Formats: sequence, structure tokens, C-alpha cells
Amino acid sequence: MASPSSPADRIAALRRQIQYHSYRYYVLDDPEIPDAEFDRLMAELRDLEARYPALITEDSPTQKVGGAPLDRFPTVVHRLPMLSLENAFTEADLRAFDTRVRKQLDREPPIDYLAEPKLDGLAVSLRYEQGRLVQGATRGDGERGEEVTEQVRTIRNLPKQLQGTGWPQVLEVRGEVFLPLAAFNTLNAQARRSGGQPFANPRNAAAGSLRQLDPRITAQRPLAFRCHSLGAGAESIASTLRDALIQLQSWGLPISSEMQLVQGLAGCLAYYQRMAQLRDALPYEIDGVVFKVNELADQARLGASSHAPHWAIAYKFPPQEGITRVERILFQVGRTGALTPVAQLEPIVLNGARVSRATLHNWDELRRKDIRSGDRVYVRRAGDVIPEVVRVIPEKRPADAKPVPLPDRCPACGAQVLKLQGEAILRCSGGLYCPAQRKRTLEHFASRRAMDIQGLGKQRIAQLVETGWVQDPADLYQLDQAQLLGLEGMGERSARNLLAALERSKSTTFARFLYALGIPEVGWVTARKLAAAFGDLDALMQATKADFLPPHQGVRGIGPKYAQAVWEWVQGSPEGAISPSDWWKKQRIPRFSAKLIPALEARFPTLAALREAGPAALIHRQGKPRVVGVGERVAEAILGFFASDHNRSVIQKLRAAGVHWQPALPEASSAQPLAGKTFVITGTFPEPRETLKQQLLNLGAKVRGSVSKRTDYLLVGEKPGSKLQKARALGIRILGAEALERLLQGKLPD
Ligand code: IVH
Repeated sequence: MASPSSPADRIAALRRQIQYHSYRYYVLDDPEIPDAEFDRLMAELRDLEARYPALITEDSPTQKVGGAPLDRFPTVVHRLPMLSLENAFTEADLRAFDTRVRKQLDREPPIDYLAEPKLDGLAVSLRYEQGRLVQGATRGDGERGEEVTEQVRTIRNLPKQLQGTGWPQVLEVRGEVFLPLAAFNTLNAQARRSGGQPFANPRNAAAGSLRQLDPRITAQRPLAFRCHSLGAGAESIASTLRDALIQLQSWGLPISSEMQLVQGLAGCLAYYQRMAQLRDALPYEIDGVVFKVNELADQARLGASSHAPHWAIAYKFPPQEGITRVERILFQVGRTGALTPVAQLEPIVLNGARVSRATLHNWDELRRKDIRSGDRVYVRRAGDVIPEVVRVIPEKRPADAKPVPLPDRCPACGAQVLKLQGEAILRCSGGLYCPAQRKRTLEHFASRRAMDIQGLGKQRIAQLVETGWVQDPADLYQLDQAQLLGLEGMGERSARNLLAALERSKSTTFARFLYALGIPEVGWVTARKLAAAFGDLDALMQATKADFLPPHQGVRGIGPKYAQAVWEWVQGSPEGAISPSDWWKKQRIPRFSAKLIPALEARFPTLAALREAGPAALIHRQGKPRVVGVGERVAEAILGFFASDHNRSVIQKLRAAGVHWQPALPEASSAQPLAGKTFVITGTFPEPRETLKQQLLNLGAKVRGSVSKRTDYLLVGEKPGSKLQKARALGIRILGAEALERLLQGKLPD
């Protein structure tokens, strides 16, 4: 009998776990653990089996590929088994692979490897007969998969008919079906809005989309395909994998544009580094790179195990997602008093960084995801975005975990918390008395795009608020050397520097000053537009709501169809001073909604007035707004801000302290200075890619994901990707990060 902790027991336990998780992953498309954790279980099992070969059984998960096919789809028997890949996690693993390959081939010089990104999607096999796509199948357990022909037919970049000539009569190719990141984000946003469960990652979303019994649902998901390996009939089209794939491409099958031939271990390592840098800039998710021996004859000599070929390996990146435990849920207070729920986590390393906090976005989101303290959750940290809790694992919830109660007091100031109707967010009602709001207001005021006060960071601000010396931004300009020296950690030199920075900041531009005020809803782009439209502060402070809203004629909500109905009704109405609502009570307008009556009456108090104006005057027509992007909500936020006595007095005090700015020059076309220009972005920038994109869009530019002849400018940040080469090849204008500031002011380079 085996003792409780014997290798046999451990092996059995691992197999049970792996089986369960394979089922969740392959069959249900709903994994409970991240891939990295699954890989770890598998690695432990392999390791144990290598040490105790007598314990290997035929049905061990190490001996086969994955999930049994889902029985809802017809089964397809693969002519050549669809294998998986061995994983390498370290340079040493990769070296061992290369050594093994050279030893088996009995070769000294570096091997040619075909390198590609490892797409995080799901494998499919496609069968073409006489050039026509006749079958698509998932991998299933490697020998049998599910038939998804109608589903793969909906994939837009996958040819239903091969182009050109020379294809074998029967051709099977394999590749990856995946969901580009933009589509993944849209899909999850939709799921959240409709109260559904978002997908944990793009791979699950792709699998869930492809494996829809109703192909019409698949068709609504913008899946994409890349061919990466050969099936029956494809081995003979060339003598190397690279040439074979290029041949497939000439027949219309998409292959990876990052594919590259590399030499030996050194070439593999360099490629891995390059892809690791490119990873965040790619429009789809990759979880590593794959190296494949390029010569097909060598591949045949190397052969395969029941589970993976000996001629290929996947070198994985550090994982971007993982599972950890929520220690507790806190609420952070922002500048405008919004309370953001944040999960404090048992620390976990994601994408190479230690993560101990993740955002839960807002109250509604927290409730929808139903995350509780003690829960095990999926956490994701992709690219340079803030780590987020994707979802909870309900099966792992402790029995006593309780839903987070709606906080009724602000954690920073104790003021009442409000949840406004129709708003997803909670707000502290403490306003200026809330120290957290004060700190955030000052941090914003001092920030680079606002007053740009160097040396005034988060910690300094916290000290200044806690001493009570600084309550609002104007107080900053009253600080003196002696006071500053009283702060912990402040030396003479830094005090002098801070005072000098404050002095310098007094001279600024209207746009910066406006942004620095921290008006709710007014970000950097809106501040600039407002500055250009109003020129100076007094004009803006005197504006009324009508100055913001687009001019309009007629009655809101009444189009040509309703106008006709109303007009016919007016014709049959009595003469005189009767009002529309009085008349409405007596005689209904056919097909007309009662809700429109107040709007109608506001414009035409009597039926006589309406009759005089004629039917055309009823039809609603909207003019161009004065400031594009400033609608009713933003207008109200601005008016509300300037209506506050406190805000007016802070502005007064700032002016009195010597803060001054150059008025903006109003320009006719200033709202959309980049209109008609198409931009593509590559590499990383100080701000998140999405923010940058939004700013360009707000200035009227188009932003596209890939470089083409129609691109006007390529915006290049740090560590640019392959788009740079392509743009160079096409002779497209390249702008570096140094051009950004001017660009965001709407100025194109000469
Ligand atoms: S080559 C014998 N190339 O990763 C299989 N696979 O974890 C040869 N994958 O089943 C596969 N990107 O579905 C290859 N560029 C790529 C790939 C890739 C993703 C998938 C493939 C495979 C899985 C193994």
C-alpha cells in the first residue's frame, strides 16, 4: 500500500486535478485556473512520472492531449493526430530542447528554426478538397475533435475557396482561431452591460464563440485565423516549413506576419526578447513564442511522442493572469469624491511584477461580479493597464463570505456616501472637507499637464494637507521657506526648489489652468477645446447652458413624421388661445406620444402660435455645437463648478497670488484640427494606449490598428513594433514621442 504522501498518491491526485481542469478548459470553455497553474500541475506530473516510469499509465494526461470532444457537435477523426506542444519556461529549458534536437539529428552547426508568436486561441484543422473548404474541426482529444465547419466558415479572413493554382486535391492545414483584443474588450463590455459573465480572457472568448451550435452567433464575433502547421497532404508542398507556409499564404491562407527564420539557440533567444517587447503592442494576445525545426525531413526524423512533436517547443512568457485570494475590499476616494472599490490581494506575480491590489472599477461592477472578501479570483495584468479582478471562482467561495455592504460613510472623512440614481458610482458627500478629495485635487493641480509643479508629489501633498497648511490649491502659493523646512524629510535645497517651481508655475496657459481646476468631466482634451472656444476665463464663467448646447430649431423629439401628425391635428383644432396640453386632454393626436407635449408647449404656448408657425417649424434640427464633445452633462458640470462660491473664491485667490495665463486664440476649426488625418500607433507611451487614441479621436483624427497606404502618420513610442518597418517601407511620415505634446494641441508637424 502506498503511504499518504507517496509518489503514487501524488500522481493520482495530480491526474484527478488535471482531468477536472482539462474538462473545464476544453469542454466547458470555462477554466477555473489560469493556464500557468495548469502548466505547473502538468509539469509536476511529468516530473514525477519521469522519476517513477513504472507509474506511467496509458490514460495519464501526460500521454494524451486534452479534453474529450463535446458531444453536441459531430465527431471528426483527425487523419493525422493534432498534437500539443512541449513548454519551455526558462532559457535552460530551451537550451535543453536545442541540445536534444542537435543530438538526435547528429548535427553541430546551429539549427534553422521557424519562429512565430504563440497565439492564445484554439487550434483547428481545416480540410480543403479541390480547393474548397469542406471541413473544420477542433482539436478535441487530439485524435477526435468536433466538427465546426459552419462555424469556421464565418471567419472572415479564412478562404472558403483557395486562390491561385497548384494546391493538392486534398489539403489539410492547421492553425489558430483567436479573437483580437479589441473585439474581446467589446464583447466583455457588452456582457457586463447586460449583466452577463465576462470571459476570463480572449482565448476563452474565442473558444466560446467558435463552439456555438448556432453558427449565426459565431458569425457575430469577429474571429480571425492564422495558419501555423501542416496536416495531411500538406507535407509535400515544400521541403521546409517556411516555404510550405508561404505557399499556403499564396493560396490565400493567412499566416503570421511575425514569422521569422532564426538560427540556433542564440537566434531563438533574440526572437523571444523581441516578441516579449512587442507583446503589448500587438492587437491580439500571445502567450509565448513557438520554435519549429524548419526542415521537414528533419521534423520527420525527430518524430513525436503521443502528446507533442520532438521538433517544436513553446517558450512561454510570464503569465498575465493568475488566481489569488481577496484579503479585503477597500474604497479609494478620488478627486471628485468617487469611491472606487479596490481589492487588496494576497500578492501574486503577474507579467513579472508583484501585484497586491486590483481595481474593481465601480460599485455596480463590484456588485455584478459579486466579489467578496475571502474569494478566490482571477486577476489580470495585461500590458501597462492597472491590474483588474476579472471574475470570482464561485466554487471556491468560503461558506461565510458575505457580499460587500454598500458603504454609508466615506473612509477618509466619514461623510455620508451617496449613490445617485442611474449612476454606477458612489460619491463621498464631504466635498472640500474630505482630506482624500483635497489631496487628489492638489495632486491633479500640480500634475504635469496642469500647473506642472515639479517636486510636489503625492507624499508632499499628503503632508501639506495633514498639517492643515494647504486646504485648496491657492494655499500652495502662500507657503514659505520656514514652513516647508518644518516638514519631515524636507531639506533647505528641496524647499528652495519647491518654492521656485511654485513661482514658475504661476505663469501658464489658459488651457492648462482650466484643466488644473479639476472641473468634473473636464479632462485635458475638453479643457483645450473649451479654452479655444471661449478664449479666456471670464467668458467661460459667464457662459450659460445655451452657450454650450448646439443651437436648435423646432421641438426636440419631433421629426418629419410626427410633425405631419401634429399638423393634421392642429388643422382640426379650434381657433384661439387654447394650449396644446388642454387640447390634448380633449382630443388625442394620432400616433403622437404624450411625452412630447411639454416640449411642444414650451415652444408653442398656444395652438394659434403653432398654426401661425407652420409644420416646418416643428421639425427638430440641430446645429453644430460650439465645443464638439461638450454635451448637456459636461455643460452642467462646468456651470455647477463655477456656480460654487468656494470655487470662485479659490480662483480669486489664485489670481491674487499672481497666477496668470495667456488667453487662448479662438480658432474656427480648433475643435477638430486633425480631421481627415489617419494615425497608427506603435510602441509604448507614458499614458495608456487607449487614452492616447481617444485624445487623437477627439481632435478629429482617425486611428487605425495597422499601417497601410492610407496611413498619414505613424506615432512611435518606446520599443516600437513591426509597424515601424512597414511604415518606413511605405514612406509614411513617422512622428516620435517628442511630437506628441504639439500634436495633442492640435498642431501637425510642418
Ligand atoms: S505549431 C504539433 N505554432 O499552441 C503542433 N502552434 O500549446 C504544432 N499554437 O496546439 C503547433 N500558436 O494550437 C504552433 N505559432 C504557433 C502556435 C501554435 C499557437 C497552439 C497550437 C498548439 C498549442 C500548444
